[in-house]
Amino acid sequence: MDSISIAIDGPAAAGKSTVAKQIAKRLGIIYIDTGAMYRALTFQVLQEDIDPEDEKAVMEILNKIDIRLVQQEDGQHVLIDDRDVTEAIRYPDVTASVSAIAKHSAVRKNMVSAQQDLAKDHSVVMDGRDIGSQVLPDADVKIFLIASVSERAKRRFEENKQKGIPADLHTLEKEIERRDDLDSTREVSPLVKAEDAIELDTTSLSIDDVTEKILEICQPFIKKLGIR
Ligand code: CDP
Ligand code: CDP
Repeated sequence: MDSISIAIDGPAAAGKSTVAKQIAKRLGIIYIDTGAMYRALTFQVLQEDIDPEDEKAVMEILNKIDIRLVQQEDGQHVLIDDRDVTEAIRYPDVTASVSAIAKHSAVRKNMVSAQQDLAKDHSVVMDGRDIGSQVLPDADVKIFLIASVSERAKRRFEENKQKGIPADLHTLEKEIERRDDLDSTREVSPLVKAEDAIELDTTSLSIDDVTEKILEICQPFIKKLGIR
């Protein structure tokens, strides 16, 4: 064994990406934000005024653009061809349409395959909805993060405020519930806790608490690798 793979799944705003980034930094391994890839595609679909429900048209967009996750000094950036869309993909219009795009089977097939390629021959921590169940079914460690809807809405509210993204708490809570429902009930690889995933309720945990808990779970693999 010369690599470690860590899958982090869970509903919206449970803290997946924040914690995954910390883990990647601590272990010196790659972080892959799979949600950002679905968001980037959604951004482009909206830019081109395509109906998110039209799978064929959405696939035409996906086939003609290059979505890249690029590590820069200030963190991970998301590029569509050479355009930096890191901020734009977090806006409410993209958030409102992303689940409609992520439900298409052709889209998922393409994304899952790209994500598996990114993880090939590397130590990775990857977060999303179907990482433990579909993308990395043999991951060494699978975590399913949850938190109450009201706590998640509060977290997203604070985050949006800091980023200058318009938001109100009630709307965010409804939006999170709606997206969780769409993601959990879609036919193709829905949001689901993999059978062998460890569930962590983060409602009353800090980011550092969650990071430490996951690193503790990873300890046997970390020791074998000698990376910490
Ligand atoms: O950060 P947040 O939890 O709001 O969402 P995200 O991780 O950026 O994911 C945005 C959307 O992409 C989700 O609501 C899903 O519809 C979709 N997604 C997915 O279907 N599968 C993944 N592995 C990751 C995201
Ligand atoms: O990736 P996901 O949508 O699951 O969540 P996130 O974007 O990592 O976290 C949403 C917000 O909650 C961020 O602003 C985090 O700083 C915050 N957070 C928190 O306050 N406490 C935690 N235990 C985890 C995340």
